[in-house]
Amino acid sequence: MNLEELYKIKNHIHDLVKEVGQYQLENLGRQDLEIDKKTSAVDLVTEVDKESERRIIHYIETHFPEHAILGEESGMTTANHDSEFLWVIDPVDGTTNYAHGYPLFSIAIGLQYNQKTIFGSVYVPYMDDYFWAIQGEGAYLNSEPIHVSSHGVMDASIIATGFPYDKKTSPDNNEKYFAKIMPIVAGIRRTGSACIDLAFVASGRAEGYFEMNLSPWDFIAAQLIVQEAGGVCLSKPLRERYAVVAGNPHIIKELIKNLSEVSTLDYPVE
Ligand code: IPD
Ligand code: CA
Ligand code: CA
Repeated sequence: MNLEELYKIKNHIHDLVKEVGQYQLENLGRQDLEIDKKTSAVDLVTEVDKESERRIIHYIETHFPEHAILGEESGMTTANHDSEFLWVIDPVDGTTNYAHGYPLFSIAIGLQYNQKTIFGSVYVPYMDDYFWAIQGEGAYLNSEPIHVSSHGVMDASIIATGFPYDKKTSPDNNEKYFAKIMPIVAGIRRTGSACIDLAFVASGRAEGYFEMNLSPWDFIAAQLIVQEAGGVCLSKPLRERYAVVAGNPHIIKELIKNLSEVSTLDYPVE
């Protein structure tokens, strides 16, 4: 796939997520929204998550019938599962927010070629913010280039984080890391959407981010946006899922140093 094709994808995905985002906003706060439970009483999926994913998959299958697709709600497509191209989709990142009518949520779509992310997008319907990156081409918010911030001091930094649905029982519920970082930073943030957290690091709205229990669709697309914005975003398999740490090149060292004092994450710092 050449650069021209990737830029076309960027534009078409923008049109697609604007349309899907409009549908999400129209249904936000609806009293009769159908909500089901997945792995537990707090792990929810709404009819809007399912319908959004259906529309995104329909677009991809129509335009790229030979590509593989991994969607949070539908899993891995059986057709083309051995394709070199893999689309990774989170149709609503921030479902707990969405189910409560809380307007912070995003649509994340990434494209990988031989396991390397070559395109990533995070769209935030409520703000009409389209964050995107093409490998080697920089990162953008709508049509403006974005860059991570340059603050390198923890006590002057905003650090975002999040907690998994199985936080009552999981050893990776982030409790200890949170307790370590919370008192030593200017502000801790929990938006409820890992993709928004990472997009905000990419655009310098926050300095860093950490979370211990993510699935690929929670960070694949946004990871490229952070990296192309001059930041660092490291992911490491941890039990069944991934620990992810991100930040501008100055704060990432401090963040990892402090997280490692709780338990070794073994991330390369340089
Ligand atoms: C969740 C969000 C949240 C993070 C959770 C994720 P979902 O994704 O990204 O910020 O803390 O770990 O599972 O379920 O809303 O798509
Ligand atoms: Ca998610
Ligand atoms: Ca989701």
